[in-house]
Amino acid sequence: MQRLDGKVALISGAARGIGGETAQLMAREGAKVVIADVLDDLGRQTVAAIAAAGGQAAYAHLDVTSEADWTEVVNLAVSKFGKLDILVNNAGVFIGKGIEEISLDEWNRLVGVNMTGVFLGTRLAAPALREAAKTSEHGSAIVNLASIAGIVGSQLDPLYSMTKGGVTLFTKSAALEFGRKGYRIRVNSIHPGVIQTDMGEQTFVARAQRSGSNDTTRIRQTVTDTVPWGRLGVPMDIAKGIVFLASDDAGYMNGAGLVVDGGVTAT
Ligand SMILES: NC(=O)c1ccc[n+]([C@@H]2O[C@H](COP(=O)([O-])OP(=O)(O)OC[C@H]3O[C@@H](n4cnc5c(N)ncnc54)[C@H](O)[C@@H]3O)[C@@H](O)[C@H]2O)c1
Repeated sequence: MQRLDGKVALISGAARGIGGETAQLMAREGAKVVIADVLDDLGRQTVAAIAAAGGQAAYAHLDVTSEADWTEVVNLAVSKFGKLDILVNNAGVFIGKGIEEISLDEWNRLVGVNMTGVFLGTRLAAPALREAAKTSEHGSAIVNLASIAGIVGSQLDPLYSMTKGGVTLFTKSAALEFGRKGYRIRVNSIHPGVIQTDMGEQTFVARAQRSGSNDTTRIRQTVTDTVPWGRLGVPMDIAKGIVFLASDDAGYMNGAGLVVDGGVTAT
């Protein structure tokens, strides 16, 4: 018996990075997984990797800022795999500019993906999650990708921090609203530290530019030195936390935030 046997999961932004790793781990734990992203080729490659390992997955194009895309993707999960138990709102973007440097278009993109995307996913997946919860002992689950930048301030990207702070409190508020309505959908957030993905690399580039250098190797070491556990995070560190929050093992966790940062915010 595996932790996600019989479950159906939909993960936004799952073509690569944390979402891609989570999709593969969920499939190994027995879930049927819908991988949804704007990066269609990479997304299909992740599906192929899951199938090659004996798992079940499907790919769907999803721009998380589009209500129509969300409707189609949720319908696909239900028509292909019969129901929807788990939504992971993982898609996100990072800009890496200060308050005085970021353009209004860049800000609108941050808000669109990091906040509107989470709101739309939650709203449009809720009916299917609610339906699946009726026959599940521990109900359905939403896991939102926030960040440690949604708990403490970020001088590197204050606007990214603003969107992740929004996701942090939206998680708690959604848990309260669904609780009041009796939906049996647990809503929790996860708060990664610095994780080695394309986005993690973007943060090193932004730090290097801020210090007037191109030396991202030195910056990576400087950041590593600030981690009490002594290394940067890898996608699997976060995937394990997401699988836990999505599984029945976290059946009494609701409106909570799980920090996975090697101790960075312990100080
Ligand atoms: N890497 C880190 O250090 C870190 C730290 C804290 C939080 N996070 C959060 O974790 C999540 C995953 O980040 P990652 O590090 O894997 O980044 P990543 O850039 O590797 O992956 C992000 C994924 O989101 C997808 N995406 C972007 N815009 C989209 C849109 N409009 N619609 C659908 N998909 C879209 C991308 O195509 C990509 O596949 C994000 O929400 C990010 O903010 C990452």
